[in-house]
Amino acid sequence: MTHKICDNIYSVGVDDRTSGNFEALWRIPDGISYNSYLLEDEKIVLFDTVKESKFAEFLTNIRQVIGEKAIDYLVIHHLEPDHSGAIGFLKELYPEMKIVGNSKTAEFLSYIFPELDDVQRVEDIGTLECGQNKLEFHKTPMIHWPETMMSFISDRGVLFSGDAFGAFGASNGLPFDGQRCLEDYEDDLLRYYSNIVGKYSSMVSKALKTLGELDIKLICPAHGVVWSDNPSWIIEKYRLWSSHIAQEGVVIVYGSMYGSAEKAAEFMAASLREQGIEQIKMYNACEGNNTYIIRDIWKYNGLLLTCSTYDTRVFPLMDNLLSLLKGKKPKNKTAGVIGTYGWSGGAAEGLKKAVEDCKFQLAEPVIEPRFRLSGQDYANMRKLAKTVAEQITQKKGD
Ligand code: FEO
Repeated sequence: MTHKICDNIYSVGVDDRTSGNFEALWRIPDGISYNSYLLEDEKIVLFDTVKESKFAEFLTNIRQVIGEKAIDYLVIHHLEPDHSGAIGFLKELYPEMKIVGNSKTAEFLSYIFPELDDVQRVEDIGTLECGQNKLEFHKTPMIHWPETMMSFISDRGVLFSGDAFGAFGASNGLPFDGQRCLEDYEDDLLRYYSNIVGKYSSMVSKALKTLGELDIKLICPAHGVVWSDNPSWIIEKYRLWSSHIAQEGVVIVYGSMYGSAEKAAEFMAASLREQGIEQIKMYNACEGNNTYIIRDIWKYNGLLLTCSTYDTRVFPLMDNLLSLLKGKKPKNKTAGVIGTYGWSGGAAEGLKKAVEDCKFQLAEPVIEPRFRLSGQDYANMRKLAKTVAEQITQKKGD
C-alpha cells in the first residue's frame, strides 16, 4: 500500500505480519513495517528497500507511484537485511540506478552484493541535487549499525532517519503519528528502542546533538509511523530513553520449576505495594516474553529477579534473559535477587553476579530459600522490599 507523505514524497514500504519474531528473537505479534520512501523530483530517489521476501509487493508499490519511470538513486541509510534485502533484485530491474551511501556502506555492501561496487560515497559527493530538493547526509553510526546515516531535505525539514524513531507493529494503513494514540504507541516505540537501539544509547545521544541543529518538521523512519504532527515528541522521548531516565516502579521476573520462586515473586509484589510502590510489572521468564521484559526494565528503575536453581546454576530461561539484558546495557537500576534451591545452591549466586555484571545496584539481602519458603525467608523478603523501595524512590528523577 502506498501513501503520499507530503509533496513529491511517498511511502512505498510493506508490512510484515508473518515473521513472528524480529531478528528471530523479538516477538512481533502485531507485525512490523519495513518503510521505504520515494522522492519524485527531476530525479527519482528511493530511500532504503525492504526484506528480500517482500520484494514483489514492494515493486508493486514503487510502480504505483512512478509507473514505468526509472529510479535514479537509491539512498541506503542502513544495511541490515530488513532494509537491504531487495537491493539486488532492484538493481537488476533498474540497472542505471546509482547507489548512495558512505564508505562503511560501500564496505559492507561489497560483502552482501559483491557485484555492486559503484557506491556514490557521501564523503565525496557532499549533497545530492534532485531538482527542487537537495539532500544532505548525516552520519549516525551505531543507530543501529556502524554504517547508519540519515538524509535531510533542509529546505523542507524532512528527515529520513533509518531505524531511529521507529517502532514495532505493522502500519495497517495508518502511516502517520496523528492517527495513533501516542500514549499507547509509546510501548511499541520503547520496545523497539530497548530491544534494538538502546545498547547504543551513547551514540543516540551524540546523534541527537547533531539533529538538534536541524529544523526538523517531519521524520520518515524505517519502521513505524511518519512523524508529521509530533516530531519533537519522539525526539524528546529518545532524549529520555538514551539518558536512562526511568520511572519509579519494579519489574519482577520469575523462573519457577515447582512454585517457590513464583510464590516469592508474588510475595515481593505485595510487599513492594505495602512499601508504596505503585508500578509493578510481573513476568514469567518461561513464557518467551523477553522483548516486553527488557522494555519494562528500560522503563522502570527497579528490578526483582527470582528463580530456581537448575544444574547448580541459574534456571536456563532466566539465564537467557539475563544474557540478553547484559547486552542491552540498561543503566541506573536497583535490583534484588532471590534464588531458590533444594539439594544444591547456585541460582542466588548466579543472579547476584548477573546484577553485578549489569552494573545495577544490588539491594540487600540476597535471599536463598531452600526447598520451601521459610518464616525467615518471608521476613527477609519484607526487608528486601523495603530496601528496593527506598533505593528506587531515591533514584526517582535521577
Ligand atoms: Fe531495521 Fe537495524 O534494522
